[in-house]
Amino acid sequence: MSQTGALGKDLVGLESLSREQIVAILDTAEPFKEISERRIKKVPVLRGKTIVNLFFEASTRTRVSFEFAEKRLSADTVNISSTGSSVAKGETLVDTARNLEAMRIDMVVIRHGSSGAAGFLADRIPSNVVNAGDGAHEHPTQGLLDMLTIRDRMGRIGGLKVCIVGDILHSRVARSNIYGLLKLGAEVAVCGPPTLLPRSFGELGVRVFPRVEEAIQWADVLNVLRLQLERMEAGYVPSLREYNRIWGISSERLEKAPRDLLILHPGPMNRGVEIDSDVADGPHSVILNQVTNGVAVRMAVLYLLSGGQPEKAEAAKGGGEA
Ligand code: CP
Repeated sequence: MSQTGALGKDLVGLESLSREQIVAILDTAEPFKEISERRIKKVPVLRGKTIVNLFFEASTRTRVSFEFAEKRLSADTVNISSTGSSVAKGETLVDTARNLEAMRIDMVVIRHGSSGAAGFLADRIPSNVVNAGDGAHEHPTQGLLDMLTIRDRMGRIGGLKVCIVGDILHSRVARSNIYGLLKLGAEVAVCGPPTLLPRSFGELGVRVFPRVEEAIQWADVLNVLRLQLERMEAGYVPSLREYNRIWGISSERLEKAPRDLLILHPGPMNRGVEIDSDVADGPHSVILNQVTNGVAVRMAVLYLLSGGQPEKAEAAKGGGEA
């Protein structure tokens, strides 16, 4: 039986959330961070809830992070992928979900290769639906964990200049970041090869930098996106070496910045392509902090969708065992 809380029934994207709802998620994630630092990483916040993780596309970070978040909140979880399930026999997404609902579930977390799959499902089943990345549409929990990480390090989001660099065209992470960051008052820019930088992004209210050197001069934060190597065959970029030479984030390029830039990457990284190893592992990188924050953000989303109140999160998680 689904609940409707501060976020409504589902989390499909950040485009449809208000500034207040986004701030509520980030603020709710704060007290939940501490649960993962305990010796016994478990609180009874979602005890009795059943959550199905439907991952129909490859994932390491998001899949494991949702599963940790669910288990640390004491939900019962089931993981389903397309291989090994009846999807491989041609069963539709809705039929799969309706059959799972017949077994009395409460929430579905879905990753799918098709843009719009999460919203499609949310409109058709009563369970809460959380989008874990759908095609090139949105990856809302990635956008949220990126914002939490920026807020942790910079103390604010409003007024910061954040540039998203790389394959913007195919990126659900770029879309969720743009919607979320603009709502929280950041200035946002995008930068990448013209073939991977749709003109329509200018209409979203972001600046467009044709050269990465200009972006580095302007920004406080760089969110470096994976070059989706599968796009290489489609001829979007001439070669990996060429991409790294023109668009890659290297320490040589960053040394010319007027200030230290915070470096984010949603992963998985192509080291030596969109980002050099000394930057990815360097002092300004918060790439692993993003991963750590992902668990707390996903706990917050699950808690709020299940009817939890932001102001009661601290009390709900209890003191616990250190
Ligand atoms: N950032 C992200 O979505 O990574 P995964 O594809 O490994 O989940």
